[in-house]
Amino acid sequence: MTVTTIERFILDNQPAYASGELTNLLYDLALAAKIIAHKTNRAGLIDILGEAGAINVQGESQQKLDIYANQIMRQLCDHTGRLCLMISEEQEDPIHIPERYRKGSYVLVFDPLDGSSNIDVNVSIGTIFGIYRCLDEAQRGRLEDALQPPGDLVAAGYVLYGASTMMVYSAGNGVHGFTLNPEYGEFLLSHPNLVLPEPPAYFSVNSSYYSRWSPGVQQFVDWLQGREADSPRLSARYIGSLVADFHRNLLRGGIFCYPAEDERDEGKLRLLYEAGPLAFLIDQAGGYASNGRRPILEITPTQPHQRTALFIGNRGLVERLEAFIRQDDGASTQ
Ligand code: AHG
Ligand code: MN
Ligand code: MN
Repeated sequence: MTVTTIERFILDNQPAYASGELTNLLYDLALAAKIIAHKTNRAGLIDILGEAGAINVQGESQQKLDIYANQIMRQLCDHTGRLCLMISEEQEDPIHIPERYRKGSYVLVFDPLDGSSNIDVNVSIGTIFGIYRCLDEAQRGRLEDALQPPGDLVAAGYVLYGASTMMVYSAGNGVHGFTLNPEYGEFLLSHPNLVLPEPPAYFSVNSSYYSRWSPGVQQFVDWLQGREADSPRLSARYIGSLVADFHRNLLRGGIFCYPAEDERDEGKLRLLYEAGPLAFLIDQAGGYASNGRRPILEITPTQPHQRTALFIGNRGLVERLEAFIRQDDGASTQ
């Protein structure tokens, strides 16, 4: 079996137009993944567990590992000349490239650590990233460079810190998975050309919120759970780490749902650095992502931390959800 490192793969498959900047940025992210993995793999042995005693822009208590992962992503990417701006889940304001460093052509949006509630209980967590092109090369990166629809991403991916550490990315030519060999610290190609399998095997939703959903979403989840004659035969799996649930569904087929709720009409997940990058990936893998009424890829953010409902996975399942919501909308207008 040929051994292909992620560096070799990125170089051999970089888009024709790439000047090497995108390639180098993906290398930098692979290194950040190794450094964060090094910490997560011994989280129980060093003082990296637990809450950091701070609250992030989302109003959520920050975990030490959230802050550490955010620092690593910034430190590895703010001086390399690939970026003109960064947006992090853990920081309210855009992260500008210091004047003393050369600016680059890309914007990096990221959730440095996804699934924080699982850190202290040793359940898989992840990092999610998306890469846009700066809209105006003459400027040093402005918020509008980050407020682009996910369909305009040039690359996106995630790192999964699980039984093994994996990095999965797409630069617009398919989705490819790499597994970290910790003995010599290399990500090796292990899952080339990932395509969403049919028929799907799983559905993922936090059913404890059932009473907060619209009737259309409730009817869809009832259908998913086998209550109708034409229900699919699916198993329920919900880890509480979006990256881990997404990755399992990507490999086995399925749908992940985080619906809007009575008290949260935009849902919980963030458009720019959670739903958007994963929508890009699932599209590349033959699937579909919706907010319940329209494709995630077509939603232009107006705020960097805005939230969205998310239904992502096999196209047939997501489109069935949209049909339940349309039917419910129709009923409520009569
Ligand atoms: P983060 O840790 O970055 O805030 O993300 C957590 C998200 C996502 O990973 C997961 O699917 C979801 O929160 C779980 O939310 P509930 O606990 O409300 O189900
Ligand atoms: Mn997250
Ligand atoms: Mn996070």
